[in-house]
Amino acid sequence: MASRALIYLLLVAAIATVNCNSEGDALYAWKTKLVDKNMVLQSWDPTLVNPCTWFHITCNSDDSVVRVDLGNAGLSGPLSRYLGILTNLQYLEVYGNKISGSIPHEIGNLTSLISLDLYGNRLSGSIPASLGNLLSLKYLRLNGNKFSGKIPTGIIELIFHGNLQLMNVSDNLLRGTVRHNNSTGFAVTNIIQDPRAMKMN
Ligand SMILES: *[C@@H]1O[C@H](CO)[C@@H](O)[C@H](O)[C@H]1NC(C)=O
Ligand SMILES: *[C@@H]1O[C@H](CO)[C@@H](O)[C@H](O)[C@H]1NC(C)=O
Ligand SMILES: *[C@@H]1O[C@H](CO)[C@@H](O)[C@H](O)[C@H]1NC(C)=O
Ligand SMILES: *[C@@H]1O[C@H](CO)[C@@H](O)[C@H](O)[C@H]1NC(C)=O
Repeated sequence: MASRALIYLLLVAAIATVNCNSEGDALYAWKTKLVDKNMVLQSWDPTLVNPCTWFHITCNSDDSVVRVDLGNAGLSGPLSRYLGILTNLQYLEVYGNKISGSIPHEIGNLTSLISLDLYGNRLSGSIPASLGNLLSLKYLRLNGNKFSGKIPTGIIELIFHGNLQLMNVSDNLLRGTVRHNNSTGFAVTNIIQDPRAMKMN
């Protein structure tokens, strides 16, 4: 009986470790797709039990990733859909690099996200509607990229149904107007859109 309990405990511990490591695996999978000319990701060692000691990564007390801070880090390459498994991530700061490709739909799974800062990169394609799931999101800065198409309505609705306070989509290739409606009494909400794009509507 005792040994069965022990085996069970070991099994639970093994599963917990795997779960914990999966965040490191996801980040490492992203690293393998990036060109890191300044070697800022050198400490991202996938053999460690979790990514919490890696540079530019912050964890909570449960060793789950809450911040990725890679602003102005000289990185090129795409974002990774595996980032979508970082369920406790609050800050994804990847501004001022040469990140290209589109935003993976899976970023919309990051429901703890407070700040999504992807400004000043080479991102393109349409902004995924799944970002409308990010009810915690306060700051969405996508300015200075090559995004095209229209801004999904669900994202604008985050002002009323979520926490969105600042959205900067200026300096892209977007179309359409964003109605500035703060009549519900929500505090300072700034939507900054390229005036050129607004005239194209
Ligand atoms: C993550 O996002 C994708 C695409 O938006 C969705 O199909 C999938 O069900 C999500 N996974 C989880 C675990 O929420
Ligand atoms: C919005 O984006 C534009 C273009 O990148 C930038 O010049 C401006 O400073 C940004 N404003 C805020 C408040 O983020
Ligand atoms: C502003 O938004 C609220 C909530 O979504 C809506 O009920 C109202 O009709 C809107 N007003 C205008 C002028 O668009
Ligand atoms: C609401 O919008 C108006 C017009 O853009 C602006 O002058 C005002 O400061 C806004 N109020 C709040 C609380 O954001």
